[in-house]
Amino acid sequence: MKTFSTLTNFIALAFLVPITSANVTPLQHRSLKTNLFPSGYTYASGFTTASGVSANGVTPVALSDSVLNVIKATSGLTHNVVSQNGKTAWEAVYPKGSYNPSGTPKGGFGFYLGGSDKFQTAVQGGAKQVIFGYSVMFQKGFQWNMGGKLPGGFGGIGDSAFGCSGGRQTDREECFDLRLMWRSNGKGELYDYLPLTSTNAKALSTVGPETILNSDYGYSVSRGSWTFPAGQWVTVAERIKMSDPHKANGEVQIWINGNSVINVKGLEFRNTTDSVIQGMHFQIFFGGSTSDWASPINQKAWFADVSGAVII
Ligand SMILES: *[C@@H]1O[C@H](CO)[C@@H](O)[C@H](O)[C@H]1NC(C)=O
Repeated sequence: MKTFSTLTNFIALAFLVPITSANVTPLQHRSLKTNLFPSGYTYASGFTTASGVSANGVTPVALSDSVLNVIKATSGLTHNVVSQNGKTAWEAVYPKGSYNPSGTPKGGFGFYLGGSDKFQTAVQGGAKQVIFGYSVMFQKGFQWNMGGKLPGGFGGIGDSAFGCSGGRQTDREECFDLRLMWRSNGKGELYDYLPLTSTNAKALSTVGPETILNSDYGYSVSRGSWTFPAGQWVTVAERIKMSDPHKANGEVQIWINGNSVINVKGLEFRNTTDSVIQGMHFQIFFGGSTSDWASPINQKAWFADVSGAVII
C-alpha cells in the first residue's frame, strides 16, 4: 500500500508539476511569427519591426519614430535604438528611485504610436478588430518591486483618447487604454481603463486568477495569469475587438509567447463609432504614483518586434 501511494505521488508529481507550472508561466515559445500574429486570423494592413517574420498582410518596417508615427513623447526621457540579444530594440533606462514619468529622477519612456501609415489609416478609420504585438526583455536579475507599466492598445473619440491613464475620471466613456503591467515577482496582468460600466466590471471580474476593480485608477485584470522571467525575450500579443455601439460584444485577448492567457468577452467600449482604436500606448515606468513603487536599482528593459495588424 505504501509503495502504491508513493508511486501514485510520484506519478502525480511527474504529471502535475509540469502542467501547473505551464499554466502559471506559459513561456514555451512557438514561432516568433505566431507569437506576434496568432494563427486562426486573417491579417491586413499590418507592420512589424521583427526581422524574419513574413506573415500574409504584414509588411516589415524599421524601428523608427517617424515610420511608426510616434507622437507625444514624454520629454526628458530616451528610447534609444540598440542591439540587444539578437534584436533591434528600444532601450528603457530606469534609474534607481524613478517611479513616475513626471517625478525625479525620470525613468522609462512614454509616447503614443500609430504604427505604419497604412495601419494607422486603417485603424483610425474604424477597424473593428486589431492585433498589437511586441517583445520585451527585462535585464537579468531585474528587481520588480511593486510593479510597472507595459505597452498596450488605446483609443477613443479624437483627442479624448489621450491621457486615459493616471487616475483620469472625466469623460471615461470617451476613451480606453489597454496597457499591461508587471507586478511583484514579475506577475503579469492586463491593466485597463475602460468605460466604468457595471457590464464591464462584471466581465472583467470573472477572468481569474485575481482581478482588482479600482475605479480611481485602472482595473488590475487577471493578475498572475503569467509571470515574466528576467533575462530573456518574452513576446506579447493583444487582440482588441471593438464593441458595436450600445452592445456589450467587445473583446480583449492576450497571448504570451503564443499562449493565450487572458480572453475577456462581453465588454462595452463605446456608444458611437466616433470612438476608434488609435494605436499603442507605450508608457514604460515603475509605478504607481508614490515612491514606494520606485525602481530599487539602476536597471534596464528593452522593447522590440513592435507589430500591429487589422484582423479581417
Ligand atoms: C452607453 O449608453 C448606455 C445607455 O444610455 C449607458 O448605460 C452606457 O454606460 C453607455 N456606455 C458607454 C460605453 O458610454
